[in-house]
Amino acid sequence: MASIGAAGRQQPPLNESDPAAAQKRSAAQAAAELIEPGMRVGLGTGSTVAYLLPALAARGLHGLRCVATSPASEAAAIALGLTVETLDQTGELDIAIDGADQVDPDGWLIKGGGGAHVREKIVAAAARRFVVIVSAEKPVDALSPPVPLELIAFGAGATLAALAPAALRGGTPPSPDGGLIADYLGPIGDRAALAARLSAVPGVIGHGLFAPEMVSEVLIGEDQGVRRMRGAKP
Ligand code: 5RP
Repeated sequence: MASIGAAGRQQPPLNESDPAAAQKRSAAQAAAELIEPGMRVGLGTGSTVAYLLPALAARGLHGLRCVATSPASEAAAIALGLTVETLDQTGELDIAIDGADQVDPDGWLIKGGGGAHVREKIVAAAARRFVVIVSAEKPVDALSPPVPLELIAFGAGATLAALAPAALRGGTPPSPDGGLIADYLGPIGDRAALAARLSAVPGVIGHGLFAPEMVSEVLIGEDQGVRRMRGAKP
């Protein structure tokens, strides 16, 4: 059952099996408060975004135009009454909001735990402001593998050999765009150098390293409230 939060708005029910659920919900609620009527809003993918969608819908803002990064987010947004369009229909977005798997002290992210990182990066890059919502265990001292990848199916064995150590992600279906979801499993070291190396391998559609220049702000849900960490993007 939904509950009434401190702001008097209905909050989505917590997933009782997720110990970080309350932190995810508070970060998502804080992000939903950033949205204004008429905005074009990029919607990420994952369990933290699952709290954003009802929080956003509950605000009842007029004229919102949303772009979803996955079929799951699109279906959930539509079910809540949000208007979903394609990125080609909206053009530039006012804001995009998404989760992350890891956030380092310099604002580098690893994303793609849900395999949606290529669409998520396109949507984040199309947004004037990119806000990341995470629970308290996501900030880390240093990024660690795996780094998610999306690969063209043709010649995937050769692509994986060039990326070694890397492997297809077992049990994960192709992306909605037909790409194979895989993970780079080696050391990370210099993040920019690794991002450049991964991008340079033929057959790689995209990887889950997001540079600080893509990130405006990280909202970290903690037991005491929401902590804000500034990114390098205005
Ligand atoms: C999906 C993602 C997610 O944003 C990331 O995996 C975090 O997910 P969650 O909010 O469930 O922890 O990048 O591709």
